[in-house]
Amino acid sequence: MGTREPWWNGAVIYQLMPRSYADGNGDGIGDLQGLASRLSYLRWLGVEAIWLTPIYPSPLQDGGYDITNFKDIHPELGDLAAFHRLLTAAHGQGIKVILDLVLNHTSDLHPWFQRARWAAKGSLERDVYVWSDDPHRYADAPVLFRHFESSNWEWDEVAGQYYLHRFLRHQPDLNYENPWVQEEMLGVVDFWLERGVDGFRLDAVPFLFEAEGSRCEGLPDTHAFLRKLRARVDAHGRDVLLVAEAIQPVDEAKPYLADDELHGAFNFVLTAHLFAAVASGTCKELCNALEEAQRAVPGCRWALPLRNHDELWLGDGHLVSEDVIQVIRAGLHQGQGHWLNWGINRRLAPLLNGDPRPNRLLHGLLYSLPGMPHLYYGDELGMGDWPGLRDRDPNRTPMAWTPARNGGFSSAPDPLLVLPPITAPGYDYRVVNVEVQKQLPGSLLNWHRRMLTCRRLLPALRRGTFELLESSHPSVIVYSRCIETMTVLVAANLSGAGASLHLDLSRWQGERTREALWGCEYPPASADWFIYLPAYGFSWWLIGEVEESVEFSANDALSSPA
Ligand code: GLC
Ligand code: CA
Repeated sequence: MGTREPWWNGAVIYQLMPRSYADGNGDGIGDLQGLASRLSYLRWLGVEAIWLTPIYPSPLQDGGYDITNFKDIHPELGDLAAFHRLLTAAHGQGIKVILDLVLNHTSDLHPWFQRARWAAKGSLERDVYVWSDDPHRYADAPVLFRHFESSNWEWDEVAGQYYLHRFLRHQPDLNYENPWVQEEMLGVVDFWLERGVDGFRLDAVPFLFEAEGSRCEGLPDTHAFLRKLRARVDAHGRDVLLVAEAIQPVDEAKPYLADDELHGAFNFVLTAHLFAAVASGTCKELCNALEEAQRAVPGCRWALPLRNHDELWLGDGHLVSEDVIQVIRAGLHQGQGHWLNWGINRRLAPLLNGDPRPNRLLHGLLYSLPGMPHLYYGDELGMGDWPGLRDRDPNRTPMAWTPARNGGFSSAPDPLLVLPPITAPGYDYRVVNVEVQKQLPGSLLNWHRRMLTCRRLLPALRRGTFELLESSHPSVIVYSRCIETMTVLVAANLSGAGASLHLDLSRWQGERTREALWGCEYPPASADWFIYLPAYGFSWWLIGEVEESVEFSANDALSSPA
């Protein structure tokens, strides 16, 4: 692979749920064919990769994270030929494709589990899963899905034993002590790599192994298996991204990023602190979290989400402190009944009470901090949610494409739709949709496109060093991103009140400064360089001259044909 930069360094990744994205065959359910027809939109928007939540055959007890066959496509989504067409088309548009890899568990309808139940106790077939005669084993492992389950063990009549399930009782945990399981799951990785996928998001990765007296998270054996998996992936000789979903504090997420393990890991601590900063209007804790993350693993290997298909996970005090959780709960808009499990079950725009200013601010930070920014489908429009739907479905409703019926998601009659499109006041698909927002120059959608265009033109944001600078204002965070040929300065005001301050830019004394997003000249850098940021305002500035080859105009780039 040489020294060439891997494709994911600083890449912007767009997460989508294929069942809710675009319906290609008019049966009311989004599918691969529909998604393929929307790739030109994603290219226009400027994302570099798409992460598809699970597309495998599944009874859908847990949004497809309960799988009955790891090497096929759910018939409602298409088939392997449709997947091939999608992948080829995505690559043709310069878009990488990342699949969800659910290593920890299967569906209880998976043939392996059905075979295990009937197989003799202690046989290899039985031992594909984790069984016990005593439901108090591993008592220190918390119940994760406590909205549905009260124990990690479920009695199985046929087997005459309890089986372990860290998630739903429909999702028995695979037994990684069994070498057959390890080899089968490595075979799943081979299968999809041979079909050309560009990466995997490793679902629920801390839970592969268990040990008495521990939370059963991130045990040494789990890391040993992940190193095996990495070696297997490397053997394919391509740049394949492996990113961990480990909802853990930074010091516990760090081991996944060892050089011989995974390339990326979500930083959910940072996500919580981004929300806490906006909720409190102060940035000290956010600065600490950024420093901690960079100290642990410098560079761009943290995957940065704002929202995703789950609740905004805050945890039980293990991920972030109770104080931070309280700040978020008090400061964000929740309404009634939005606390699910360990977090707030809302999409981004309603969490921010529909205010586009903190919405832009949070994305402005995401797009300029070191890491891989993740954009959740619909958040580029400020799409709303449907409180009252089951489980996490409020955040998983159909993408709004046009003001036409069903938001252009599907031509099927309403009762057939996978989930109802949003018609709530303020978020109605007749107003909040791609077609309308494309035509409004000031829309959130056009803003995202401008941000992503600028980010592409500013490689310092993608792979530059990161340094927090002194700020004399408690609401304003200031940092620089530098590569040899380019310095970008960022300042952002986390509060709902305007902020003015002087920055000490003496290290760049006398150099030219320009606001990079809109191209406006500022006074040369000095020891008391004055800025004003409106409520939730932020700016990116270019410091000094940049080489002719990277001289840019976002306006030119944006006026090129879609
Ligand atoms: C991950 C997924 C979540 C799923 C769980 C069990 O946390 O993001 O949606 O329910 O794993 O697979
Ligand atoms: Ca369909």
